[in-house]
Amino acid sequence: MNNNLANIKKSIIVLNKNDCVAIPTETVYGLAANAYSNKAVKKIYTLKKRPKNNPSIVHYSSLNQLKKDCVLNRNFFILYKKFCPGPITFILKIKKESRISKFVTNNKKTLAVRFPKNKITQKLLKILNYPLAAPSANISTKISPVSAGDVREEFGKKIKYILNGGDSKIGLESTIISLVKKPEILRHGGIEIEKISKILKTKVKFKSKKNKTSAPGQGKVHYSPHISMRLNIKNPRKDEAYLLIKKRKLKNKNYFYLTKNQNLKEAGKNLYKTLRLIKKMKYKKISVEKIPKKGLGITINDRLIRASK
Ligand code: TXA
Ligand code: MG
Repeated sequence: MNNNLANIKKSIIVLNKNDCVAIPTETVYGLAANAYSNKAVKKIYTLKKRPKNNPSIVHYSSLNQLKKDCVLNRNFFILYKKFCPGPITFILKIKKESRISKFVTNNKKTLAVRFPKNKITQKLLKILNYPLAAPSANISTKISPVSAGDVREEFGKKIKYILNGGDSKIGLESTIISLVKKPEILRHGGIEIEKISKILKTKVKFKSKKNKTSAPGQGKVHYSPHISMRLNIKNPRKDEAYLLIKKRKLKNKNYFYLTKNQNLKEAGKNLYKTLRLIKKMKYKKISVEKIPKKGLGITINDRLIRASK
């Protein structure tokens, strides 16, 4: 823990200079900067090569801090109580007096907010007197990082500091739910849509991506390993890396288990790690065994479909 505290202090020095630090979260690593500072937030966009019109998620450690920036409603409190800290992001109305940089929201009237679960990042957020804007710590459209090593691979020395908090336990980005009007899922993620519906006692729907204005970052080429991909495949071709979720005998050696017993939580945790490895091994093609379209399987399929575009 002493070691962690020293590293948290190093992070604070960099953040206070309006620079970026990569932070661990239970979903994926984030590229963080002071959400109240225009200068700091601009750096995130430059480093990530992220389009300016794609707003970022702001990370908080307490409700009191969030209250300064957003209007909280009943559905928010119900979901907060059940799932936070955890892999869920809320879209809320931003308060007029909020100090959030206009570069975080691209001048929108709504803000994406989240309470991450990683202990080290929680401690960092608690000490800071500002929340952290943090998109995933990858170059735009590339695979999201789930370890400090992944972040280093993405950015090399371009990032001043990477706060190491071990491997991301969930390994898939947070579920995004808009609570501005009727609750609507904007991105499938680490919390299953079925669980959210149950808690809110209503069938929450997924908002189709056809309406691009709701979540600009939900473009087709996200999460792409930039390798061709075939889904729902029973018999892989010889030259394909084959992703599996249940144990079976295979002739060649090009197979990669996400899980051996259809444990979707485990499969989710291993997905980005495995895609990164396959890319490093220079495979040009991937095929994937059928993954059930329920629970976290919905999120995994969503990421695979986008990676295959
Ligand atoms: O798990 C996560 O959510 C990770 C960790 C680091 O917290 N972050 C993450 O950020 O996935 P990013 O930037 O890769 O994805 C954020 C998504 C984008 O698709 C963006 O368009 C959407 O959130 N978003 C941000 N603000 C929004 C808003 N006001 N309305 C609608 N969508 C918004
Ligand atoms: Mg991302």
